[in-house]
Amino acid sequence: MSNQRVLTGDRPTGPLHLGHYVGSLLNRIELQNTYEQFVMIADVQALTDNFETPEKVRANVLEVAYDYLAVGIDPKKTTIFIQSMIPAIPELTMYYMNLVTIARLQRNPTLKNEIQQKGYESAIPVGFFVYPINQVADITAFKATLVPVGEDQLPMIEQTNEVVRSFNRLYNAPVLVEAKALIPEKGKRLMGLDGKAKMSKSLGNAIFLKDSADELAKKVRSMYTDPTHLRVEDPGKIEGNVVFDYLDIFAPDKKTVDELKAHYQRGGLGDMKVKNYLLEVLEAHCAPIRERRKMFEADPQQVMKILLEGTRHAHEIAMQTLKEVKTAMHLLY
Ligand code: TRP
Repeated sequence: MSNQRVLTGDRPTGPLHLGHYVGSLLNRIELQNTYEQFVMIADVQALTDNFETPEKVRANVLEVAYDYLAVGIDPKKTTIFIQSMIPAIPELTMYYMNLVTIARLQRNPTLKNEIQQKGYESAIPVGFFVYPINQVADITAFKATLVPVGEDQLPMIEQTNEVVRSFNRLYNAPVLVEAKALIPEKGKRLMGLDGKAKMSKSLGNAIFLKDSADELAKKVRSMYTDPTHLRVEDPGKIEGNVVFDYLDIFAPDKKTVDELKAHYQRGGLGDMKVKNYLLEVLEAHCAPIRERRKMFEADPQQVMKILLEGTRHAHEIAMQTLKEVKTAMHLLY
């Protein structure tokens, strides 16, 4: 066991998909064996752009929990918790807001992109605008030293470390610790079914961990390949061909994949054959996850109990940090 502490999380806005699986879930399954790991279901953050549909966020807290447990995030090794049940986080957020300027937030590339995508430019909700500071509180409340995230989250880690340094300098106490982003080696960006962008729920190009065998087969059949590969005997391209991208990531037998690639490029190999092979490969990954997920789905009370136990533990740790912060700020009365 290392003394580093890992914190990461997801916004519960939908069930998790294969992009999450290769990008972060597989990584967490490994990290939990080496580190003290916290995985947060970030419902407060999810509400900053879903405040009109809280029932959707609420339902997805459980969906995400089912996915975590189904893939093998083990509550005996990982503390899984619900963000909104940790009152220290919004309190820390309030204190940190003094240390961050509006101009600095406006320069945060992740936030900037999202504001554009959501068309918020003309009227940005304050809650959304300050969510990066809330994320700083997520990370520092647990004194996390490692934060496994995708590259899009790097600005959040930078923002965190700026607050950590300002806080410790201003209040003259080494209370907060800097965090390092952990861009997982295993973390791969998975293309969506359409081959146009990375897999995401909102683009409708995702394979969900909860998809049935039939849904999976339908999605694999719909995958983007080489649009100029019209007849089986034609040579086909593998660059940008989603089916081969997925085989590279998921197929355990690299030799077979290399042979299929060569055959496809030569001509004489139809899309359907390759897709059927990919379906076999994906089904081997997804079937056991799907079965385990069904087990948890059948017992939501048990899953909620797991979340509440994790949350109780997380709350204790965050309260300890809050106490140190308040002491440094002369707020302990
Ligand atoms: N912003 C992250 C996302 O969109 C989720 C998240 C919230 C998070 N708080 C965090 C990730 C703290 C790492 C650490 O996926």
